[in-house]
Amino acid sequence: MELDLEGQHAERAYPLLASLVTPRPIAWVTTLGPDGAVNLAPFSFFNLLGAHPPILGFCPGDRDDGTPKDTARNIRQMHEFVVNLVDEATAEAMNRTAASLPYGVSELAGAGLTTLPSSVVRPPRIAESPASLECAEWGTLQIGDNRLIIGLIKRIHVRDELFDPATQRIRTERLQTIGRMASPNWYCRTGDRFELRRPD
Ligand SMILES: Cc1cc2nc3c(=O)[nH]c(=O)nc-3n(C[C@H](O)[C@H](O)[C@H](O)COP(=O)(O)O)c2cc1C
Repeated sequence: MELDLEGQHAERAYPLLASLVTPRPIAWVTTLGPDGAVNLAPFSFFNLLGAHPPILGFCPGDRDDGTPKDTARNIRQMHEFVVNLVDEATAEAMNRTAASLPYGVSELAGAGLTTLPSSVVRPPRIAESPASLECAEWGTLQIGDNRLIIGLIKRIHVRDELFDPATQRIRTERLQTIGRMASPNWYCRTGDRFELRRPD
């Protein structure tokens, strides 16, 4: 089957691609409005982009009326954000924070979440997340309705039991991150792992 995203299937691009390109990690992004309100929203158009320097990217789409989502609007003004990771324990709270609230109304209280201060950026991190990445905006590309926000990762916060100081590695067998699957409402757990060694 061949599907033409420039023709017959153009309007189906989102459900088709979001159901095929799976699983996707979820960036649960905290930003600060100019009045100090903490904004929190999930984005699965997200990935790690590089390590030297450490960079990531995620992509809020503009609203139907052409205005940016609150996350993009706040980053355009403050140039800082925190990407919090989502695990099985925080999945439902994450989903609640996808509600569209009026600008300046925080998603945190309704989702039963609390924050901790960040070290080098102003937006706080989510205390309930297993790990959080403090980021400074490197730049934002506007491509049609998409805003690809690229962040320089300045700090990792990871729950103590997830980090092995002896090996300096993450104890991935204890990390229960979830992934975004088919549109509109599917997710996966990441507990079913297997190892493949690379050829020499
Ligand atoms: C798991 C999940 C992933 C999402 N991924 C995206 C995404 O990649 N891009 C996007 O624009 N919206 C995405 N959304 C919808 C936004 O979270 C939603 O529009 C939110 O209200 C935006 O909040 P804000 O206006 O506070 O930035 C996603 C929602 C969920 C539940």
